[in-house]
Amino acid sequence: MTKTAGLTKSLSGLPRTVLWDNRVLRLLDQRRLPQERSLITCHQVEDVFECIQTLAVRGAPAIGISAAYGLLADLFETRLSLAQLKIHLAERAEYLISARPTAVNLAWAVNRMMGVVEGKFDDTGELLERLEREAIAIHQEDINACHKIGDHGVALLRKYPNVLTHCNAGSLAVSELGTALAPIYRAYEEGVKVHVLVDETRPLLQGTRLTAFELQLVGVPCTLITDNMAAHMMAIGKVDMVLVGADRIVANGDVANKIGTLNLAILCQHFNIPFYVACPVSTIDIDTESGNDINIEQRNSTEITHWRGEQISPDDTNVANPAFDVTPANLVTGIITEKGILRPPFEQNLKMIGGKS
Ligand code: MRU
Repeated sequence: MTKTAGLTKSLSGLPRTVLWDNRVLRLLDQRRLPQERSLITCHQVEDVFECIQTLAVRGAPAIGISAAYGLLADLFETRLSLAQLKIHLAERAEYLISARPTAVNLAWAVNRMMGVVEGKFDDTGELLERLEREAIAIHQEDINACHKIGDHGVALLRKYPNVLTHCNAGSLAVSELGTALAPIYRAYEEGVKVHVLVDETRPLLQGTRLTAFELQLVGVPCTLITDNMAAHMMAIGKVDMVLVGADRIVANGDVANKIGTLNLAILCQHFNIPFYVACPVSTIDIDTESGNDINIEQRNSTEITHWRGEQISPDDTNVANPAFDVTPANLVTGIITEKGILRPPFEQNLKMIGGKS
């Protein structure tokens, strides 16, 4: 349904996370990677909600795209009147947005779809077709944005080929190619001798299961480390740059990303290593003033107390499980977007590129 912006042969093997297949949403089940590649068919909006909440689909842009299509799940056969359909869509929108609070792309994509609903339509068929076109446009724009992020960021990899990344901001987290991984893939294809240190990313191991998986599929040299090895790797000179994705960047340049990102930014300051963030403009939330205003998702304690269904902590252990942290803007060297690399002062420069609201 959507067109790629042109993947070379080595990158065409990268897995696709979101598929819109004859008006049916199919999602790659990332909970089962890398052992198993299976697709989930989302017959109902509840299926999409569950996939987002349980991280079958995850990564800020990917959950936004999934929710845009998910809003339409099973509606093409509807017998609802136009007025009933609009009410139904508004309820679905609120429900889907509630699946995960931190990544702004989810609310952004759903609100963009609901903006369409406000237009004038003769019947339900016309509205649904228009909504389908909007969801496909959101998907396509993300593909284009990721490729441009690759183009803008590749020069950094020529200068800083030994990069450390956290969580998964690759093909699996977006429509295609990735955000933080896009410049890495581009550099690798160009023949730059890149090497990626992959943080395992506790507690859900997106680095181990997803980033190492996709880098290895392409053949990018990488080494998996546990999160607490980053400082040592920096101290012995193995890291030229840290490059991560983002779930939300707010007006003053503060960055919400996977828990553990803040540790890396602080280490970068200590070791004088550049700390870059890559994201599409759809991840920029210009309406939120500072990182203090970001709603940080708190996840189930069993993600920490249990391992693959088996309890590993003592009974009744108190657990904190914030899924994201906020890196203050002053620790960020630059933000790579489809519109170019932003540098401080971020407050001013983010306003100029116009983040979505
Ligand atoms: O909980 P997750 O796996 O959805 O967290 C994802 C991240 O933190 C990514 O770094 C972020 O969404 C950027 S994805 C291009």
